[in-house]
Amino acid sequence: MGLEGKTVVFGVTGSIAVYKAADLASQLTQAGAKVEVIMTEAATEFITPLTFRNITGRPVVTKMFELNSEFSVEHVALAEAADVVVIAPATANTIARLAAGIADDMLCCTVLATKAPIVIAPAMHAAMYENQITQDNLAKLQARGFTIVGPAYGRLASGGTGLGRLVDVGEILGTICQVLGRSGDLVGKKIVVTAGGTQEPVDPVRCLTNRSSGKMGYALAEAARDRGAQVVLVSAPSALPKPVCVDVVNVGTAQEMYEAVKKAVDKADALIMAAAVADYRTKKVAESKIKRQQVASLTLELERTPDILGEVKGKFLRIGFAAESENMVANAKEKLQRKQLDLIVANDITAKGSGIGADTNQVVIIDRKGKVEELPLLPKRQVADRILDRVVELLDKASKRFEIILKPSYINSHFIHIPVAERGLFPEFKRSLTLLTDIGEIETTAGLCKSGTHRALELRKGLGKWYEAHPELKSGDGVIFEVVEPLKKYRLRKA
Ligand SMILES: Cc1cc2nc3c(=O)[nH]c(=O)nc-3n(C[C@H](O)[C@H](O)[C@H](O)COP(=O)(O)O)c2cc1C
Repeated sequence: MGLEGKTVVFGVTGSIAVYKAADLASQLTQAGAKVEVIMTEAATEFITPLTFRNITGRPVVTKMFELNSEFSVEHVALAEAADVVVIAPATANTIARLAAGIADDMLCCTVLATKAPIVIAPAMHAAMYENQITQDNLAKLQARGFTIVGPAYGRLASGGTGLGRLVDVGEILGTICQVLGRSGDLVGKKIVVTAGGTQEPVDPVRCLTNRSSGKMGYALAEAARDRGAQVVLVSAPSALPKPVCVDVVNVGTAQEMYEAVKKAVDKADALIMAAAVADYRTKKVAESKIKRQQVASLTLELERTPDILGEVKGKFLRIGFAAESENMVANAKEKLQRKQLDLIVANDITAKGSGIGADTNQVVIIDRKGKVEELPLLPKRQVADRILDRVVELLDKASKRFEIILKPSYINSHFIHIPVAERGLFPEFKRSLTLLTDIGEIETTAGLCKSGTHRALELRKGLGKWYEAHPELKSGDGVIFEVVEPLKKYRLRKA
């Protein structure tokens, strides 16, 4: 998970759902995050600071004017230390105070002062949630860039059912990872992953399938999300929970997976086929259940299913998996050549702790040049990240050129506005970078620009002189950015 080494400032407010916050604090801590808990006074009526202190191993802040607190001297210290601020559960009261910019306790001060992304998970009685005042407050926070997760529909502690339950801890965790991933190395990229084992029907109740659990594909989808990618997961049946902040397309058969992948790869940067797709399906599916008494022996005639990797082609990278039980490297190399893949990930399914159904995997990654990278036995999430490291490397090489067509609003003597959808080439905002131009080097910074609903990355400072040197540039012209040294230096020129 992308939480290792991150500082999560965790606000806990006075909701009955607060007991779930202890679980969230525990899971964040186990995932390697440093969790700094701030409790409102009301929250301490429901649960003691001691609980969080023990779970996180860190002091818990409950008061702004507490002499012994590590953080009280500098009341914005946590705001600055945070990689992300999370409030779960978030009461109607705290949401209202945040929307109004009130700063009369440590949690609100921290939120007001932080530049880190903020995630809030509301929890309250349905009538409080549906009240237009709460809705307006949430809309205001959302417009200011807060990420709101939930609430969920279900049984409420205050009685009855309705919309107001704190969402599952897994959903909050996934959202935090996705928000932290906004500065990852796959920002602006679309990655399509397939997972699970397809099921080919024999009759209305039986099917031909395999033992794939979907764990490798789901780990890849979550890892890509945590590195900032937009992820589409085309999933054959799997018992795993649906990953959060990932578009999941559920399919059953190889044919359905083929159709779904063809659609999903539109504008994709990479397709990673981790699914165990049936090679054969029954030629004829029985319309009604085949009865044991009616047939003494049964022969099924099988035909080939579509070869998804072989047939779905485009400008995106294509990464395949090869589950082998013998001659692993040679067979995988042959598959890579035959299907013209960019990478193939091969594993020996007979090895202990590796492959289908296991939580760990031992793989080799082979590229087009025949380079073989052998990985040790690792948890599937770590294998996923090692595969994505190679994908990032290949994408970096492929996307070194970037053209922006100037629109009237982009041209400004100080800025180049880059629509959010196209900013993948650039480092996350607030990074300085050097533009190598025909009039010399220009030092600039990439910053997030927000005006109304328009969000864009803009290159700030230093561009005025470049525009002045090019009075011929007008709306509709293109400028090209070319990466000279990834994520640091760019060449800027007219198209
Ligand atoms: C038993 C009980 C349960 C409560 N549960 C919630 C709740 O789930 N959500 C909510 O917004 N307020 C709830 N409240 C009301 C808040 O605790 C109250 O508005 C408080 O002032 C919130 O303070 P805080 O936002 O500073 O934590 C509850 C109150 C009580 C007595």
